[in-house]
Amino acid sequence: MIRPFIIATLVVECLVLTVFAAPSQDDNYVSNYDHYAAQCRAQIGDIPAFSCASGRVIPITVDGKVPGRYTKDMTCDRPALLPNGSQSDGQCVPGSRILNLSELDTQISVMCRQKQIRAKDSLSFDEIDVIAHNPISGATCWFQASATQGGSIDGASVPSPTGADGSTFFNPPEDVVKDGCGICHDNDPFMYSPFMGQVWSQVPVNPFGPYYQVNTPVLGFDKWPTQQMQPRDSTCTGCHRIGTKETCGQLADWASGEAPPGANALAKSYPLSHSMPPFHGQSLATWEVINQASVARIGACCADPTSPACNLTEIAHYFK
Ligand code: HEC
Ligand code: HEC
Repeated sequence: MIRPFIIATLVVECLVLTVFAAPSQDDNYVSNYDHYAAQCRAQIGDIPAFSCASGRVIPITVDGKVPGRYTKDMTCDRPALLPNGSQSDGQCVPGSRILNLSELDTQISVMCRQKQIRAKDSLSFDEIDVIAHNPISGATCWFQASATQGGSIDGASVPSPTGADGSTFFNPPEDVVKDGCGICHDNDPFMYSPFMGQVWSQVPVNPFGPYYQVNTPVLGFDKWPTQQMQPRDSTCTGCHRIGTKETCGQLADWASGEAPPGANALAKSYPLSHSMPPFHGQSLATWEVINQASVARIGACCADPTSPACNLTEIAHYFK
């Protein structure tokens, strides 16, 4: 006879809990944004507020000189490699800015990106991207604010992505997951391109450090790739890892002779056509002897990463 009593008590308790717990659940409601930002704060640290105005402008040159005029879909010496999209003014848009907000134990890189040609020194941008990385543990967070079609975002006074106003400015983390940052940034958080090479002193690096995505159970940052390839005798894996998505794919091709969209004649000719290793100073014949076989093996492993010769391993991380 105890059973019905227990059941009755449980039913009453459930009713009481539903009536009284519901409002307090609302009080404790944490948005995906705030949950992610809290994890980023805990695993990496605070990201400060900033202004794109303090960033270094990334040059767009033609035959080594700043052109008198920029035009839609023009070509240049060092086009940006992130595809700006069909609605943009192409890959040679001036005025993007890079900021290094790193401290001793926190590496933070900010890109204020121009995809449309705007007035010189404009602080309106198409996109603001933030990478925050803990070089000791490997924890990495990603934030993005993007303009709506035809609009722009104000880069003059950007709130802290991990602060109370972060969610008013930056996209929800579920949109960031969809953007797939880690599919291109697949070997380590920070990315080299000849475009970035012009301002490389402003980009933090941690090529062999641990690397993992901060996540919350519902977001899916952990679905981004986590493996590197290590084909034998590779000159391409001596200075950094090569991942299994974009660093072995298009980015490796563009670093070893294939011209990216927006490349002009200078960009297509040696040595700019072969940007890896950076600033190598070799003749093309020497470059080929040293690197051609390694580049071919990377291409083959990219097409079939599970082949035993590619020796896939998990990228090191300390916590997950
Ligand atoms: C399609 C590939 C691709 C995707 C997706 C991508 N990036 Fe990048 N990112 C690049 C490339 C390539 C560069 C180097 C600059 C250039 O040449 O455009 C770069 C550069 C950056 C930089 C400047 C510092 C550095 O590493 O050079 C930041 C910050 C950045 N990305 C953040 C992000 C964030 C945040 C996301 C996701 C919201 C993202 N990126 C998605 C390809 C990508
Ligand atoms: C002398 C050192 C060195 C060698 C050798 C080298 N690289 Fe790099 N590479 C770098 C540095 C430095 C970066 C940017 C740092 C980083 O990865 O964080 C980079 C970045 C890259 C990137 C962009 C992705 C990224 O993480 O920034 C690609 C793609 C790449 N290298 C391909 C190659 C290929 C292909 C080879 C072989 C032909 C090669 N690299 C050999 C130094 C080197």
